[in-house]
Amino acid sequence: MKIDIVTLFPEMFTGVFGSSILKKAQEKEAVSIRVVNFREYSASKHGSVDDYPYGGGAGMVLAPQPIFDAVEQLTGTAETKPRVLLMCPQGERLTQRKAEALAEEEHLVLICGHYEGYDERIREHLVTDEISIGDYVLTGGELAAMVVTDSVVRLLPGVLGKEESHVQDSFSTGLLEHPHYTRPADFRGMKVPDVLLSGNHAKIEEWRRKESLRRTYMRRADLLEGREWSKQEQQWLRE
Ligand code: ADE
Repeated sequence: MKIDIVTLFPEMFTGVFGSSILKKAQEKEAVSIRVVNFREYSASKHGSVDDYPYGGGAGMVLAPQPIFDAVEQLTGTAETKPRVLLMCPQGERLTQRKAEALAEEEHLVLICGHYEGYDERIREHLVTDEISIGDYVLTGGELAAMVVTDSVVRLLPGVLGKEESHVQDSFSTGLLEHPHYTRPADFRGMKVPDVLLSGNHAKIEEWRRKESLRRTYMRRADLLEGREWSKQEQQWLRE
């Protein structure tokens, strides 16, 4: 997969993309990430990227030219049609389902604005998806682009080892994850549940599924709406 990030602050990405699993994913060539500064595409003498809003008002608006030119240059020779994602609080909320859908794409371009609005023609004629990472306003789209990239790249084949597998993730199963414990079995009198020490794999599996359901019900009952309950789960509900 190819991911291109279009931003005024490329240096913000260095640490996140140069560390841990995102770094390894690039080394393994599961993903190729480019970060470009769209100021470099500005046709103006002074490299300006924004201007005053028509009709007046506070704040500046990101002009279409540098962003259109940057995206067109990045996608011009692409064989497959890239998805062009605009990071903004008005967008569709990022979910695990959305990350899974984006992970199927060949090429993503993520556009990040910073403390200003986007000219509407960018939304209407360049962008295929507007993405928000939550109902709060950030100073720019860069952190959102890192979140989107991270959530997508970890789903790509070969990126996570068996140890870190995403199959059991919270949300990918539709439920929150069950509790985890490691040694010691007794830490300052705080004990690990007996069943996990029993060696009975069927019982352990049942405990985990029950805890996962219980946790989801207690914390995120909204995730259970419309759920098809298995026979086993219906039995647990009656217990
Ligand atoms: N830019 C500013 N706030 C944002 C948010 N919540 N999600 C995505 N991009 C943003």
